[in-house]
Amino acid sequence: MLKFDFTNIFNSNIPNGINKAEIEKNKNVLKDSIQKIENNKPGFVELVLNRKWIDSVLDVKDILRNFENLVVVGIGGSALGNIALQNTLRPLNWNNLSKEERNGNLRIFVIDNVDPDYVSSILDSIDIKKTLFNIISKSGSTAEAMANYLIVRGLIETNGLSPKKHLIFTTDPQKGVLRKIAQEEEILTLEIPENVGGRFSVLSPVGLLSAMAAGINIDELYEGAKYAYKRTINEDIWNNPSALIALTHYLYYLKGRNISVMMAYSNKLYYLADWYRQLWAESLGKAFSKDGKEIHVGQTPVKALGAIDQHSQIQLYNEGPDDKIITFLKTETFEREIKIPYIHLNEKSLNYLHGKSLSQLLNNELLGTETALAQNGKPSLRITFPKINEFSVGEFFMYYELATAIAGDLFNVNPYDQPGVELGKKITYALMGREGYEDYKPNVSNERIEI
Ligand code: PA5
Repeated sequence: MLKFDFTNIFNSNIPNGINKAEIEKNKNVLKDSIQKIENNKPGFVELVLNRKWIDSVLDVKDILRNFENLVVVGIGGSALGNIALQNTLRPLNWNNLSKEERNGNLRIFVIDNVDPDYVSSILDSIDIKKTLFNIISKSGSTAEAMANYLIVRGLIETNGLSPKKHLIFTTDPQKGVLRKIAQEEEILTLEIPENVGGRFSVLSPVGLLSAMAAGINIDELYEGAKYAYKRTINEDIWNNPSALIALTHYLYYLKGRNISVMMAYSNKLYYLADWYRQLWAESLGKAFSKDGKEIHVGQTPVKALGAIDQHSQIQLYNEGPDDKIITFLKTETFEREIKIPYIHLNEKSLNYLHGKSLSQLLNNELLGTETALAQNGKPSLRITFPKINEFSVGEFFMYYELATAIAGDLFNVNPYDQPGVELGKKITYALMGREGYEDYKPNVSNERIEI
């Protein structure tokens, strides 16, 4: 189970920090927000409270046996959860392992951009005949996902293969062009529940299929998520990670800390920071309040990786503007360990490293960074993974989805929509010549400043 340490959040350690009375003062607001979650059960909660979605994915398990690779095609919330699951729960060199080393499980690739160099690099490294393509799009219309779908479909067809055998769609139960094509051609399709948006969909078939294909225990993911949900619903605020994460971030936002850094001291956990970045940004960065007032709120999420970013970002975090709250992600157990050998014994300046493990060095670096930040008056909290496994990763997803829902109430915004993404999409459609979007074509200004 995850451990949460809020010591360096409060003014007992951080002189200008928030005080416990401020939490007490907001207790009722938090209670109301949690009660609302319990009563209304947002889609991302409902998901994990029954077996429907796990079963829908288990139903297609046999098909995976025919393939060596699963390629996910999607973007944003239709890709980031897959990437986080693979990288936290499988070795980072998974796709380079032999089939035996993978216990017969599939190699997993995610195509989430439309950069031709990047797309080619993935397509060049797979044998199409041994590949199942999972096209994921809730709306079934996103330009990037659809362009890449057309490209992989073209490849399937030019290789003389059957699209029906090499494609599986994950999309809305009713709407969108993917659903239409699936119906017309009887392509196997998994549903994204109607009330679950992309960034909240990691524990729906969106994330579950590629997880299962890589041999990840999807039941355990749900166990972790359910545990986090029950704790959030039942526990007092002081024993409630989601509530405390939401409220402390909100209170610090009000004090001018409008940047939320998530700094992982583990290359694997770094991918959770990437997933969090989308969740916090797209859910809380809004122009209008729930009651229609123009408010322009949001806290900018930033991801960082220890120890690398100690040599890139920490100078700024320690001495720059007081605009950040930092979350450290730590693991107590690494899958592998490396001991530093006894070489150059005459070099006294290296003696402190001899015989130590890399994990010891990394975790002491975390402690050093955290302590230095606290001494500089910068607030941080620490989340510790006793082990990076399905249970703890499932917990993490759920705690953060719940924290985002609660933060939505504190910021007084709808965390489930993303109107700010729409205009750019429409202009792109116009530029690409999509019918019906002609009015969005940008006027070229006479006063350009180009040098
Ligand atoms: O969180 C979201 O809703 C978005 O990031 C979407 O996931 C993203 O825009 C992709 O949308 P779709 O799944 O409809 O292709």
